[in-house]
Amino acid sequence: MLIKKINELREYISPYKSNNESIGLVPTMGALHNGHLSLIKAAKEKCDRVVVSVFVNPIQFGPNEDYNKYPRTLDADYELCSANGVDVVFSPSPAEMYGEGNILSNDNLTYVCPPFSYTDKLCGKSRIGHFDGVCTVVNKLFNIVQPDLAFFGEKDAQQLIIIKKMVKDLNIPIEIIGCPIVREDTGLALSSRNKYLTESGKNDALVLSKILQNIRKCYKQGITDIEYLKETAFSFLNNNNVELEYLEIYDSDSLECTKFANDNSRAFIACRVEGVRLIDNIKLGD
Ligand code: PAF
Repeated sequence: MLIKKINELREYISPYKSNNESIGLVPTMGALHNGHLSLIKAAKEKCDRVVVSVFVNPIQFGPNEDYNKYPRTLDADYELCSANGVDVVFSPSPAEMYGEGNILSNDNLTYVCPPFSYTDKLCGKSRIGHFDGVCTVVNKLFNIVQPDLAFFGEKDAQQLIIIKKMVKDLNIPIEIIGCPIVREDTGLALSSRNKYLTESGKNDALVLSKILQNIRKCYKQGITDIEYLKETAFSFLNNNNVELEYLEIYDSDSLECTKFANDNSRAFIACRVEGVRLIDNIKLGD
């Protein structure tokens, strides 16, 4: 079932709720790939009913980002969801979500803003306001769908950490399930933005996972000094086609910075390849 209106979605799922069926929500921006399918699969395993939202959220994109260009493939997304047992694909328009007047002028909208200590680093540093946009739309989706569980990929680890924090701080009665990153055989983490890359760009992009794997290997060999672990990356960064935006190691839950890594530390990387911003991360312990 494809639903585009908030009221219709509420009407459609209300019998599930009356029957005490558990509802799983998989929030997405569409252009679905095997990474999203792994979230759908996890939701199917844990919940009676699965709702996938497909919404390219304008308020989480900066003015110079790829909102207009972001791949929109609703027909294919719907087919994929139907073939994988999803009960409802919810795909509202920006006007349906925010009201006509609020799409371009976000000074008339109530926002949910995560704490600065979670957003002043990694993607939040260059994508000002991005996580306000993410938390606001996720909160709206939670209120519209009222799921019991919601599924997010660990690929966007900072997003997942911030959403868990939001759910805790705002007492939202939804269990957040983080699902492991899905990679191509080459190691490249699946992302809707990989569609922008040429074959040679995809090859260049392998450096992200190689750097992360190497950091984890060094940690496993007993190196814990974070500055030293970060320095191990430089030998991989000899390709002019790859522009490093950040490489950091922080705590997996609090995003706190420490001098020495432990099993809960996570290495995060962002690079530009062929103008495409790619992110990846790895936990250092098992
Ligand atoms: O990860 C995404 O695709 C988006 O940030 C999300 C969570 C669907 C919110 O728009």
